[in-house]
Amino acid sequence: MVRKTALITGITGQDGAYLAAHLVGLGYDIHGLVRWDSYVSPADGLSRLDLLGLVDENITLHYGDICDANNINHLIKEIRPDEIYNLAALSHVKVSFETPASALEINTHGTLNVLEAVRVTGQERTARIYQASSSEMFGSIPAPQSERAPMEPCSPYGAAKLAAYHLARIYRQSYGLWVCNGILFNHESPLRGEGFVTHKITRAVAELDAGVLDKPLILGNLDSVRDWGDARDYVRGMHMMMQTEAPDDFVLASGRSYSVRDFAGLSFDQIGVKIIWQGKGKDEVGLNAATGRVLIKVDLELFRPLELNFLLGDASKAEKHLGWKPEISLEQMIKDMIDADRLLIKEQPICKNQKAG
Ligand code: GDD
Repeated sequence: MVRKTALITGITGQDGAYLAAHLVGLGYDIHGLVRWDSYVSPADGLSRLDLLGLVDENITLHYGDICDANNINHLIKEIRPDEIYNLAALSHVKVSFETPASALEINTHGTLNVLEAVRVTGQERTARIYQASSSEMFGSIPAPQSERAPMEPCSPYGAAKLAAYHLARIYRQSYGLWVCNGILFNHESPLRGEGFVTHKITRAVAELDAGVLDKPLILGNLDSVRDWGDARDYVRGMHMMMQTEAPDDFVLASGRSYSVRDFAGLSFDQIGVKIIWQGKGKDEVGLNAATGRVLIKVDLELFRPLELNFLLGDASKAEKHLGWKPEISLEQMIKDMIDADRLLIKEQPICKNQKAG
């Protein structure tokens, strides 16, 4: 059987690493685009691939940049991939308010570079493209959000992703590119970056359990509601989207929503600590119900200039057309994240990314 070839941009991220592991299991030859800073500091940049035991697998890493059209053209011309997964992105929503031009450059222009590279190298009929679209594109429209819902993004990140989503659809309709949009709701895992709220929380839980939490966990908007799934389920869905007869757009979501406050409560439950909440707004605190110790505080600096309040995804189209269903429960995911954090604490007692959150 001829082995398929996949190119993954953003292979060093959470989704890139899990997707690479999934495709290795399916017998793919994998090529990954790696940015210069990850390439020269492999200990940091390639650590996720290392954690999944992928470094010696059938993966070829290419040093390059999604923002450099020439570089992407050459790469796609040389590799002639059967499947391209465009996962490279500036993925932190709050950071996108501080660096909006970078968000557009990487998330929109970078996507355009991939689409154009397939077109100018004449691979419209042979290369399939997965575009990492996001539930952040919906903004605060009424829930549940499906593929048919209006999209009114409320962050530079969301606007950049929405422009890329439309470019993908336009290239599909006008040039016949085989490109699908995976509209993924929040998805987490033990490989999640520590600047995202779930990992900030599970890390603090693991620190408390290990007796090394020396100050309260500082969070932003506790009222914000997200539909959190597990990245390992979602990369499986990405691959399923790429095996359909005709390209289409699909939402992947768990169909269950929780507030940040709820997520924190569920996480501390895992080590037998019940959180009670007192106060309102910036003065709200989460206390250990048994000891009265303040474990969680709020800092307005961590709020976004504009917040997406409520996400709840409707993934019924993916279930019907792809047979995709999430398999890992939220509780299991939180447990896995805390277990991974316990190991991390032993190796790396200082949390590196707290400021980015
Ligand atoms: N990061 C962070 N840090 N978020 C916090 C904090 C905190 O200390 N406190 C509260 N939050 C709230 C945020 O305001 C947001 O409403 C929610 O927690 C989730 O924040 P993130 O984990 O940063 O994720 P996100 O929803 O902004 O974006 C993620 O999901 C998108 C899909 O909807 C990212 O993975 C995006 O790349 C992805 O597209």
